[in-house]
Amino acid sequence: MKKSTINDILTEYKKVLHHDLTLYGWVKAFRSNRFIALNDGSTLNTIQIVVNPEQGFSEDLLKMINIGSSLKITGEVVESQGAGQTVEIIANKIEILGDNLYDELQKTILQPKKHSLEKLREEAHLRFRTNLFGAIFRVRSAVSFAIHEYFRKNQFNYIHTPIITGADAEGAGEMFGVTAFDLNEVPRNEAGEVDFEQDFFARKTSLTVSGQLEAETAMMGLGRVYTFGPTFRAENSNTTRHLAEFWMVEPEVAFNNLEDNIDLAEDFLKYVIQYALDNCKDDLAFLDARFAQEQKQKPEKDRAKEGLIEKLENVIAKRFKRVSYSEAIDILMNSKENKKGKFKYPLEGWGADLKSEHERFLVEKHFGCPVVLFDYPKEIKAFYMRLNDEGKTVAAMDVLFPGIGEIIGGSQREERLAVLKEKMELMEVDQKELYWYLDTRKFGSVPHAGFGLGLERLILFVTGMTNIRDVIPFPRAPKSAEF
Ligand code: 4AD
Ligand code: MG
Repeated sequence: MKKSTINDILTEYKKVLHHDLTLYGWVKAFRSNRFIALNDGSTLNTIQIVVNPEQGFSEDLLKMINIGSSLKITGEVVESQGAGQTVEIIANKIEILGDNLYDELQKTILQPKKHSLEKLREEAHLRFRTNLFGAIFRVRSAVSFAIHEYFRKNQFNYIHTPIITGADAEGAGEMFGVTAFDLNEVPRNEAGEVDFEQDFFARKTSLTVSGQLEAETAMMGLGRVYTFGPTFRAENSNTTRHLAEFWMVEPEVAFNNLEDNIDLAEDFLKYVIQYALDNCKDDLAFLDARFAQEQKQKPEKDRAKEGLIEKLENVIAKRFKRVSYSEAIDILMNSKENKKGKFKYPLEGWGADLKSEHERFLVEKHFGCPVVLFDYPKEIKAFYMRLNDEGKTVAAMDVLFPGIGEIIGGSQREERLAVLKEKMELMEVDQKELYWYLDTRKFGSVPHAGFGLGLERLILFVTGMTNIRDVIPFPRAPKSAEF
């Protein structure tokens, strides 16, 4: 027989009312030696188990029912007498599956009070046991599913691009090396350099920073593809927006230009956020209440103008503002903030790379909605972006979100072989290494475009959390790779 989850019982209680069933879970609370609040992770909610004293449960058994212990319960589903729940279970049988060794640490973590997020990050499994992280990771799971669903519905094929690669897709040199060498005895060639020809792959390899270049090769035959997998960056940025290992979603579409690409990004983000609103109601209500609580503790001027759910609904309702890089620079240069020297990094003018404070000014203060910036100076963007006709900018796009900054980066790709080669030469990207990429421009090259969404940044936005380490189960960051 299929095991029922607590979510099944609570949502389809009419089917099981007055039936006996077996359920499993962890104790969230135990009141008056009589009422157990049981949770199994299938939902934020608990189900109430009533320990009927007439059943003659032993004192010893009742003593082992503590916050955190795991139980197998058999009992009858009945209409609830108390407020706040529709049904409850009258227990006939209670089996302790795992009692608490109840060391002091577990005791404090499992107590139903607020714990610091930093402290919880040190707890591999108890973190998942909390209401907050249960909600976050159910939302993360639902959003991941919605991403696949969106692409499936739009006839994209899911491509598994490699994790170990020889290519630096972003040309930014922020890669973690992969080797099978004994690091105490690394072979060297005559020039005294590390001799990667003797290494496992007979070449220098790294963990991928992006699956884009491989996705472009697949796009050349399959038309519409997307990747969804882990990517790695050895950038030493210890911020609340960066991870050394994060999950990226990268669609790549034949025959799309920059405008199509922006349309796709907007439609995609809205679909996924709507999916979360429709399918994660309890978890989002919990996160919304938490968000409101957090705002109350801030000085009035720093408080968010909208609640979490309200913010998600507003993002879906409004069209994203599309602004060229040049327009954005004008707005920023003329802003009071820049003139009064309020930016930590004062803007030099056209050609400057935008810092997160500039992006957030545009989104949060100036436009008050998500902003798509496009047509960036070619010098500050990757080699593969398509050169615009005026020769100074490339067909790049970044989607900027309130409270987050850049959530998506993408572009129309340079499909003209000669222009691409020239770009690579200027930017010192090794053409020999990327011969297979250049080949895509030799046999039926097509205009095409794509982008990358940082999954964790989207989850930050949807959950209202502020530190990216709290929306990935096992965060990897400088000096931190626990578990
Ligand atoms: O802007 P990025 O570097 O773009 C690319 O990698 C392209 N190859 C994507 C493409 O066109 N197919 O990264 C894309 C997104 C960023 O907008 C951001 O959301 C996220 O990935 N991202 C990170 N997220 C967490 N930690 C980091 N260190 C991140 N670096 C980028
Ligand atoms: Mg970027």
